Amino acid sequence: MHLVMGSDHAGYTLKEHLKPIIIGWGHAVKDVGCHCEAPVDYPDIAEEVVKIIKSGQADLGLLVCGTGQGMAIAANKVPGIRAAVCSDGFSARAAREHNDANILALGARVVGSGAAELIVKQFLESSYSGGRHQRRLDLIRDIENKYLKQGEK
Ligand code: RB5
Repeated sequence: MHLVMGSDHAGYTLKEHLKPIIIGWGHAVKDVGCHCEAPVDYPDIAEEVVKIIKSGQADLGLLVCGTGQGMAIAANKVPGIRAAVCSDGFSARAAREHNDANILALGARVVGSGAAELIVKQFLESSYSGGRHQRRLDLIRDIENKYLKQGEK
């Protein structure tokens, strides 16, 4: 699996903790930053991760900020991106199996490093189930298309 990861300053330490663990599981990891604890704006990092996924250079993304929420909100502005904030392994697995989530967003101020490892493992080891879920993903794509045409009001 090719994974692209990014964090803001609030998620930096957790991102750095997770990176060698994920590599140790056999995945290829691209880190778009940040690279220290100096404040950065999470939408900029979310967009960098999204660009790598949209270009096909990565299969999945991992975004870490204080809560995971800002990263997910920013990433989900891009059509075709399905970013899920997860604080438990069950949700991470369901996000892949039911929602075909392509980004996991973690909150470094919400989950500890041990829980984060388990959440990421569930996310990476689960895959989309298809079947009845596809109709719902198609409906999400319809919403994207409708509002893309309509534009910002
Ligand atoms: C940064 O203080 C914090 O707002 C950010 O990491 C994130 O939690 C936003 O959603």
